Amino acid sequence: MLAQRGIDSVVVEIRSRAYCEARQRAGLLEDGSVRLLHEAGLAGRLDAEGLEHGGIYLQFAGERHHLDFRDLAGGRTVTVYAQTEVVKDLIARRLADGGHLEFEVSGTAVSGLDTRAPVLSYTAADGSRREISCDVIAGCDGFHGICRPAIPDRVRTVWERDYPYAWLGIMAEAPPATDELIYCHHAEGFALYTMRTMQVSKLYLQVDADARAEDWPEARIWAALQERFALPGWSVKEGPALDIAITPMRSFVSAPMRYGRLFLAGDATHIVPPTGAKGLNLAMADVTVLADAVEDLLLRGDERRADAYSDTCLSRVWRATHFSWWMTTMLHRTPEADPMEAALQLSQLRYVTTSRAAATTLAENYVGYPPLR
Ligand code: DHB
Repeated sequence: MLAQRGIDSVVVEIRSRAYCEARQRAGLLEDGSVRLLHEAGLAGRLDAEGLEHGGIYLQFAGERHHLDFRDLAGGRTVTVYAQTEVVKDLIARRLADGGHLEFEVSGTAVSGLDTRAPVLSYTAADGSRREISCDVIAGCDGFHGICRPAIPDRVRTVWERDYPYAWLGIMAEAPPATDELIYCHHAEGFALYTMRTMQVSKLYLQVDADARAEDWPEARIWAALQERFALPGWSVKEGPALDIAITPMRSFVSAPMRYGRLFLAGDATHIVPPTGAKGLNLAMADVTVLADAVEDLLLRGDERRADAYSDTCLSRVWRATHFSWWMTTMLHRTPEADPMEAALQLSQLRYVTTSRAAATTLAENYVGYPPLR
């Protein structure tokens, strides 16, 4: 996006290219994210391989209900296309354009953030130490990155919630047994049926917060998935596992998202639990706002959008934080919860699947609210 605006940039990454291209993450793009990739000229493979979805199923109490997003959210849809594939497309395009992109750097540090020439320093893969004097630094370095801690504690506020469960994700060589994603509430715990292609399924299972992969041999995973998704005459299609991983669940927001010439984006400054697949989409929304802010700042000397960056992004971040928390708490079994909790969850699920107003609330948040301009 900066290159399209004629602004030079340097991208440094501590991991290897192979690691970035193999790491499995979520796989659902809001329509605004799809549009963004189109406008960036990055949609060739997305158009060919992405699977457009016009709704989801909600399953509870042994019933499966369809929510039709095209009808409820003004024709808007979502697209199944893995984050890993987006990353591959970004890397390939950057290298093809001759853009500066370095992998396997170490010793990264940022300084001079409250000056007009902040400095990024790092050790390149060949061992040489580099110092880059920048106009702006974009901290897109994830929750464990160095950029957020570079903002003084006295100016930062943090909101945080851990959930008492985790997700076990299994990617399997098996055609999905469903045309659209199934979000399933079950007495044994939540389950989600999603997919990567028409040949590869991705399924998630609520497990204990301290669960270890060794506790979950494949046979146990499939048995739990079959039990939670069970409907008469229908079953999960099983196949050889390609990847199994456990993801912790957390909500986290750190504000402001900007300090001087440092702008944070994505997981570097906010984390959502995976339910609803907002993480990647929020990061894309952040950088959409950032690209315009940097353009105004550097090409026109106009600071207004840079000054508004944090508040502009946080409005969407809090909406998605609430939505992810709501989907998560509506669908998961809380260990040691009293029977009242499950009764309230079921009432909410019944409401969302019978009231058009409630269904619209879910749909417009799921496809992305507000729609990305
Ligand atoms: C996927 C992940 C999610 O968390 C979700 O809500 C929907 C889809 C996925 O990996 O495809």
